[in-house]
Amino acid sequence: MVIWLIICNFGKYYSEPMEQSLIIIKPSGVERGLIGPIIGRFQQKGLVIAGLKMMMLNEDLLRQHYAHLVDKPFFASLIKSMTACPVIVMCLRGKDAIAVIRSLVGPTNCRNAAPGTIRGDYGMSSQENIIHASDSPENGIIETNRFFSPEEIFDYIPANISYIYSPDERD
Ligand code: PPS
Repeated sequence: MVIWLIICNFGKYYSEPMEQSLIIIKPSGVERGLIGPIIGRFQQKGLVIAGLKMMMLNEDLLRQHYAHLVDKPFFASLIKSMTACPVIVMCLRGKDAIAVIRSLVGPTNCRNAAPGTIRGDYGMSSQENIIHASDSPENGIIETNRFFSPEEIFDYIPANISYIYSPDERD
C-alpha cells in the first residue's frame, strides 16, 4: 500500500505539466561569490533541484549549447568568458518552470533587468550576465541532457511538496 502510494505520487509530481530547465551559474556568478544566493532564490521559490554539479566547460560543449550564436560578432568573447573558471550547472524542475525561472532571472542585458531579478540585482552586462536559463520546455530537456548524464538527475519527491503545490496543480 505504502509503495503504491509512493508510485502514484511520483507519477503525479513528474507528469507532463512539470517542466525542467538547465541553469548555468556562469563564471561571472561564480567569481563574484554568488553561488549561494542564486541557488537560495530558486529554492525559496519552490523549484526542485534535480541535478547540481560544478564543471569546467569546453569549447566543443559550448559550440553545441550556443550553436545559434556562432555567427555573432561576440561569439569568441562569449566562449572565453564561459571557460574562464568552473561553472555550476543545475537541473531545476517545477510547474511552468521555464517561464517562472526566466522571470526570476530577468532579460539578457543586466542593465535592462528589473531590481529583484537575479540579473537586475547582481549584474551590469550582457556577456557577464551571471546566469543562463533554458528558454523553452523543449530546450530545457535538450540542454539538461547535454550537461548531465542520466544518473546525475534525481527523480525524488521533496518532503515539502504539498506545501509548494495543491494536489490539482500536481495533476
Ligand atoms: S541574441 O543576440 O539575441 O541571440 O542574444 P540572446 O539570445 O539574448 O543572448 C544569448 C547569449 O549570448 C550572450 N550575449 C552576449 N555575449 C557577449 N556580448 C554580447 N554583446 C552579448 N549579447 C548576448 C548572452 O550572455 C546570452 O547567454 P545566455 O547563456 O543565453 O544567457
